Order: sequence, then C-alpha cells, then structure tokens
Amino acid sequence: MAIAATTAPIARPLTVAKSRVDERYDTDARLTRLVYAYLATSAVWLLLGTLVGFYLSLKFIWPDLGVAPGLSFGRLRPVHVNIVFWGFASPGMLGLALWVVPRTCRTALASHRLPWIALALINASVVAGTVQLLLGITNGAGEFREFTWPVMGLFAAALVLLAVTLYRTIARRATHEIYISNWYIVAALLWTIALAVIAYVPWFQSGLADTVVQGYYMHQGVGMWFTPMCLGLAYYFLPKLLNKPIYSYSLGVLAFWTQLLFYTMIGGHHFVFSPTPWLLQTVAIVFSVGMLVPVVAGTGNFLLTIRGSTRTFARSYSLPFILVGVLLYFAGSMQGTLEALRSLNELWHFTDFTVGHAHFTMYGFVAFVIWGGVYALVPRLSGREPSHGAIGLHFWLSVVGLTVYVGALSIGGTLRGLSWMSGAPFIDSVRLMALFWLGRAVGGTLMLASHFVFAWNLWQTRPMAVRKVRVAAPQRVVEASVA
Ligand code: HEM
Ligand code: HEM
Repeated sequence: MAIAATTAPIARPLTVAKSRVDERYDTDARLTRLVYAYLATSAVWLLLGTLVGFYLSLKFIWPDLGVAPGLSFGRLRPVHVNIVFWGFASPGMLGLALWVVPRTCRTALASHRLPWIALALINASVVAGTVQLLLGITNGAGEFREFTWPVMGLFAAALVLLAVTLYRTIARRATHEIYISNWYIVAALLWTIALAVIAYVPWFQSGLADTVVQGYYMHQGVGMWFTPMCLGLAYYFLPKLLNKPIYSYSLGVLAFWTQLLFYTMIGGHHFVFSPTPWLLQTVAIVFSVGMLVPVVAGTGNFLLTIRGSTRTFARSYSLPFILVGVLLYFAGSMQGTLEALRSLNELWHFTDFTVGHAHFTMYGFVAFVIWGGVYALVPRLSGREPSHGAIGLHFWLSVVGLTVYVGALSIGGTLRGLSWMSGAPFIDSVRLMALFWLGRAVGGTLMLASHFVFAWNLWQTRPMAVRKVRVAAPQRVVEASVA
C-alpha cells in the first residue's frame, strides 16, 4: 500500500527514511469527522490524564507538594486512572473501531447520529466523574470503579449505542465472513456492558461479594475491554499496513475463544492470600497460566504475519507502534502470569512492581496500538501527513520513557518486596524506593512530552484542511489483505 517501491537494501532500519502515504480514502466526510472527533477527544484526555499522572509521580519525590484536598494523592490517583481509562484509551479505540467495522464489512456505518450521542455521553461521564472525584465523591475504594453509578451509567449507555450501531453495521455487511476484528470489537462492547451492570448492581456492593466482584471487574476491565478491542484493531491494521493477509484465521479464532474461557476466571488473582476462598484464588491462578494459550496464539499469529516484511516495516512510521504494542502485549501478559503465582505474588503484591505491570500493559500495549492505528488511518482520511521527524520523536520519547518508568518500578518493586520479606523496618523500603521513584518521574516526563508531540501531530492531520490539499494518488485503495 503506502510503501515506496524501492529495491535498495535497508542498512539501518531504525533511521531509514519513512515512506509517505500514497493513498487517500475516498470516504464519507461524515465518517471522517466522526472518527477524528473520537481521536481528538482521546488526545485531549491523554494530555489531562497524564499531566495528573506526572504530578502524582512528583509527589513521590516531594510529598508536601500541593496540600489542598483536591491536590491530594488519594483524590488525584483515581482521577488519573479513570481519565486515562475512560477518557483516553476508550474513545481512542472506539474511534478506530468506527472505521474498522464498516470498512471490513464493506458497507456504510449503520448510524452516524448514535456514535455522536455516544461521544457526548462519554465526555459527560468523564467530566462529571472527574469533578466528583476531585470533590471527594466516589463509589468507594474499588479501583477503576470509583465513578458513581449515574456517572458510569452514562458511559455504559454510550457503549450500548455503539454496540447497536456496530452490530447493525455488521448485520448489513457485504462480505460473507465476519472479519476477526469485528468478533473482538463487538464482543468487547457486549462484555463491557455486562461488566458495568455486574459491577454496579447494588446487591454485590458490600462484604466479601464486593471484593470478589472487584477482582472480577478489575481484570475484566483490562481483559475484556481494552485487550480485545486492541487485538481487534491489530488484526485490521497489521495485515492492512503489511498488505498481506493475517497468517492464520484459525489461530485468531482459537485465541478469541480461549480468551473468553480463561480471562473471565482470573479476577481472583488480585486478591491472592486475602480472606477470599482459597479455591477461588487457586482457580484464578490456574486460569492465569491458561492465559498462555490465547496470548501465545495471538502473538504468534501477529509475528508470523510480520515475518518476511522487514522492508515494509522499516519504511512505515505506523507499524513500529503496532509492533511495540504486540510485543508488550506478549511480555506484559507473561509478566502477569508470573505475578499470579503464589510464590511471586508474595514478593510483588502491594509493591510498585504492579504499577509497573499496569503501565507496561496499558501503556505499552493499549496506547501503542491506538497510536499506530491513528498514524495509519488519519493521514489516509485527511490527506495530510505530520512530519516524520515528529512521529519519530513521539515514538522514541514514549518508548524510552516507558522503559525507564517500568524498569525503575520493576527493580525497585522487587527490592522492596525482598525488604518486606526479610522483616526489615518498613521505612527502609521507603528509603530504598526514593531513587526508583525519581526514575519513574524521569520516565514519566519523557512520556508526557511524547503526548504533546502526539497531540501536535494529530492536529497537523486534522481533516478541516482536506480541501486545501492535493494528494499523490487519491484513488488507490488496497483492500486485499483484510475482509
Ligand atoms: C496473561 C495475562 C495477564 C495476567 C495473568 C495478568 C495478571 C495480573 C496480576 C496477577 C495482577 C495483580 C498483581 C497484584 O496486585 O499482586 C495484575 C494487575 C494488573 N494488570 Fe495484569 N495480567 C495480564 C495481562 C494484562 C493486560 C493485557 C493488561 C492491560 C491491557 C493488564 C493490566 C493490569 C493492570 C492495570 C493491573 C493493576 C490492577 C490494579 O490496579 O491493582 N494485565 N495483572
Ligand atoms: C506521563 C505518563 C504517566 C505517568 C507519569 C503516570 C503516573 C502514574 C502514577 C504516579 C500512578 C500512581 C502509582 C501508585 O499508586 O504508586 C499511576 C497509576 C496508574 N496509571 Fe499511570 N501514568 C502515566 C500514564 C498512564 C497511562 C497512559 C495509562 C493507561 C493507558 C496509565 C494507567 C495507570 C494505571 C492503570 C494505574 C494504576 C496502577 C495500579 O494500581 O497498579 N497511566 N500512574
């Protein structure tokens, strides 16, 4: 597709000049505006959410920074997490899905109005939830479940509207098969709607049931919402950008069903050694090991698709983001399986290691797949390309920043766990973390800087300027590899 037709060998794949996009989608302007609105929303919340994360990382160095209640760690931590979950990652994935589903079904989106209403609901939910959290109004101490039920209800209503729209689009498809991306995307929407209901119905909101549901909710949030959505997007963008079919459709189907089988049972691994039933914990641990099946099947499928395409890879500016996403999906999941084992959970639980794992996966996998999809899609919709240097700057700032962030917390978290196990005074483990918290703040600064570059790049590709632009080959649309 967008790959320069050169046969010169690539000596330095990391510094090789990237190809310009030579295709332009001749698509309904309404869809372009809709997709861009979702992605712009996502970028704005990314900046706000990670500014808060950056501030929190500074509080580990200067704990007295910001003494007002609204600036306290207890209020701002859930603000950071909920903004990046519901404000950044969710609309980012949904914006791309609104393109992928009709495209792979070779039909028009069933409705443009419903997704616009859904976007308004998502924004209303994140604004209201953030204001409430800043004022100290929460649903309780369950992580990612801090938004009160009316606020989460707005978000869930948005997902219902999007599920209806995408389901109806698939029902009208002009293809025989339902492309694998659509399995993942629609399933993620249905699972998450069910999850929101289970997590917020009143009779599970106290005592042991609340803890069990909390574990279920936390891991279904990441495992049945962010993970399948991003896998669905990778199943579209990877073959599309490589201009070849996915290695194996069957492996994709195997990964899909085993994801459903194993992921729904692993929430209990968040409460290993807690007063929840021992059997529940054991089942969660066994199924966490079972997760190797979908993870290896999915990653293997992606890597076998990539095999032999080094040249295409080196010349693309969006594929490296998706490659990082795929590799860290694998590495982060392997790390998660290890964390679930009792012997290692004893070492790492309650330490910063888990925060490292959360960023390794949510940032290294989810955010990178979104960014790869944005750079693959938006220039082809708007006909405008950001500077390749600026995309490279985004890539390297975020890769290096994340490496420093996760490296510091993984080493520090392990040392801290060992310190606790040795019976040393608690304050020793706080002192030993000082250097690693500084490392996290340095990595976080680089990551935050990369987000400003990303927002600038997205602004450069805004579709408002479409009419002013001439593109090289507007009619050439290659769809051979998908659907
Ligand atoms: C095989 C797959 C995975 C397994 C077995 C796994 C396992 C775990 C375990 C055991 C914990 C809890 C650690 C503790 O508190 O002691 C955890 C936390 C977490 N995981 Fe994973 N993980 C996997 C994949 C993922 C993926 C793909 C994501 C993101 C898309 C993710 C996001 C998170 C987050 C955000 C937390 C922190 C939860 C909190 O706030 O306490 N994990 N994981
Ligand atoms: C500039 C980038 C970022 C910085 C500096 C940052 C910083 C932080 C800090 C300081 C915490 C609190 C850790 C603690 O309680 O000890 C945190 C938690 C968290 N952040 Fe971030 N963050 C950033 C980006 C992101 C992004 C983009 C995501 C998701 C897409 C994310 C997801 C999370 C999650 C899930 C937690 C909870 C972790 C857990 O409980 O284990 N962060 N972050």
